[in-house]
Amino acid sequence: MTALRPTGTGFDADTATWILHTPNTTYALRLTDGRLAHVHWGAALTDAEAAALPVRAESGARQRGSTSFEARYDGTEEYAWDGGVRYGVPSLQVRFADGARGLDLEPVGDEAADDGLTIRLRDRHYPLEVALRYRLRPGTDVIERSASLTNLGDAEPIEVLRFDAASWVLPHRDDYRLSHVTGMWGAETRLRREVAAAGETVFTSRRGITSHHANPWVMTDDGTAGESHGEVWSVALAWSGSWRMTVQRTPLRRLSVSTGFGHDGISWRLAPGERLETPVSAGMFTTGGFGAASRAWHAHVRRHVLPRPEETRPVLYNSWEATFFDIDVARQSALATRAAELGAELFVVDDGWFRPYRDDRAGLGDWRVNAELFPDGFAPLAEHVRSLGMGFGIWVEPEMVNPDSDLYRAHPDRVLHQPHRARTELRNQLVLNFGRDDVRAWAGEWLHRLVRDTGAVFLKWDMNRTFSEAGEPGAADPDRLWIEHTRGVHLVMDRLRDAWPDLRIESCSGGGGRLDLAMLARTDQVWASDNTDAADRLRIQHGFTQLYPPGVLEAWVTDSPNTVTGRRTPLAFRFHVAMTGVLGLGGDLAAWSDDERREAASLVALYKRIRPLVQHGRLYRLRPPDAEGLCALQFADRDVVVFAFRETPRMGFGVPPLPLAGLPRTARYRDTSTGAEYDAGVLTHHGLPLDLPRGEYASTVVHLERRR
Ligand code: GLA
Repeated sequence: MTALRPTGTGFDADTATWILHTPNTTYALRLTDGRLAHVHWGAALTDAEAAALPVRAESGARQRGSTSFEARYDGTEEYAWDGGVRYGVPSLQVRFADGARGLDLEPVGDEAADDGLTIRLRDRHYPLEVALRYRLRPGTDVIERSASLTNLGDAEPIEVLRFDAASWVLPHRDDYRLSHVTGMWGAETRLRREVAAAGETVFTSRRGITSHHANPWVMTDDGTAGESHGEVWSVALAWSGSWRMTVQRTPLRRLSVSTGFGHDGISWRLAPGERLETPVSAGMFTTGGFGAASRAWHAHVRRHVLPRPEETRPVLYNSWEATFFDIDVARQSALATRAAELGAELFVVDDGWFRPYRDDRAGLGDWRVNAELFPDGFAPLAEHVRSLGMGFGIWVEPEMVNPDSDLYRAHPDRVLHQPHRARTELRNQLVLNFGRDDVRAWAGEWLHRLVRDTGAVFLKWDMNRTFSEAGEPGAADPDRLWIEHTRGVHLVMDRLRDAWPDLRIESCSGGGGRLDLAMLARTDQVWASDNTDAADRLRIQHGFTQLYPPGVLEAWVTDSPNTVTGRRTPLAFRFHVAMTGVLGLGGDLAAWSDDERREAASLVALYKRIRPLVQHGRLYRLRPPDAEGLCALQFADRDVVVFAFRETPRMGFGVPPLPLAGLPRTARYRDTSTGAEYDAGVLTHHGLPLDLPRGEYASTVVHLERRR
């Protein structure tokens, strides 16, 4: 390994071990036998301890007589590529122009800096270079990994069949359990915890979006961690298109996770001289259970992912559930007046403003304000909204086109499609190919004009269907669109934000279909679900906030009975659930009674007092939604706010005082509504007395102001 040089601190030259330290954890990998072996990901170790760690091949492989069948390295490699005697999940798989498959990589160099490390590997025969990158960010235990692949040749393309950002190897434990979220439209991010199957478990989206059905993260523990104790290894992928995360549990009980963009069957022809970059996969080891893992992720997202983490998210009003497609300037203006009376700070006009008919059949792609609904354009409404002291926001769906639109009639080639195949419409719409430069330029241009002409400070960027027949006839490399579309969306958003520094964006995809770390790098909040039923939302939000912070979770209070589930719940319950995220209003305020509006205004005012805690504080999930009798959440900074929800009362199951978490031992608090005072020790060990109303869907919120 002549070209390889020691990297100073963090490199042990005797054992060729690279060592990365985060504030509370250590990560180590080693060059041994010409391969990169994973050595450690977990508790903090000294350099000497990390260097002294043995490299373990699967123990069974060393047993006499088994060696011709057992793969020595599967599940233990730092970055598993296809080739040689490797039979596990490959993070990198290619086919060369002469038909050869498999790689034979050797490390050829490294570059180390205080904030990270790059290791370069080259194929011993073919002109292919792989760079593995590790990045450390201040004040977080997250390690960001990514990879790039370069075709160093000048003649032939290389077909890339799988190229993941990272493989993550866990230490040996007796058992492994996976926490992840699953769901569907209207029921996103439902948390599941299950034993890791022996074999391979694939979490994936083949839909072109992050998806409602799975989300690109997994947490792993040995089966014994709880909300407030235990070791947790988490892996997330920052990508907003199709993705895949394969958890491999080998017969010899090793667990590793390989994750990257694209899904099975999607390939990329890497042209001579071309470089392909993966998105980032972020990994974090924490102790202190799932609660501590979530708080560490929230802190990381706030510190290193979000563009404007310090900002307080406004209370918005969105007209969708109030009017659906039945919108016009008079109704919108009346809703705006009522929203402002309740304390809303932002008014968002949803779908319908550009449509020729009052439904979803036509108009997507043309983006002209309907002159019958808004005879003088948006200006009178926008001015009315601003005169009420609110910002003006608009719903857009840039990636979509209705076949019944001028855009589609002029450019039918701009949608994803394949020859000899139907163009399947979902919700009467097709997907514009954001991998194309002309589509990106067109979208950037009309979005820019819309923001300029209306003075909008907020866009709700929606994406209401999944990909189908995703092709690009005539393209040299037709699968690229799966990745290039997502890159195009990111690019258009980034440029728009650069041009309009005061513009804020909400990510939406039929609710929570596009929630991921890459979206959060260029948006301010996410519409978590089209299901605004407060009882369902408790579960959806429980899953959402496992990784993503409450300060990006948009939640509206809507009408009862709920439009999706038909459930009736009290106004306070609906408010309290929405107040555990970014509170918004989404009901038909014209139909709310005076009493309801008075109650709503006082709850909005309360939210404004406690929102710094909810949006920027530390979340403690005191009792999960399906806990017997009571669900409770606590947000803490200096002050504390506690929310408690009892969906169904049961005789004999009273509500005992609720023990709080994470309070400084000597602190003392005052309940801002009753004036009662409590010492932290009492709140921690005996609990906060709760006063819940009678009946179904009872809830309460307690704001504790710190006195000392
Ligand atoms: C999606 C969104 C909704 C709403 C509608 C409008 O379903 O999630 O909030 O904007 O589109 O068509």
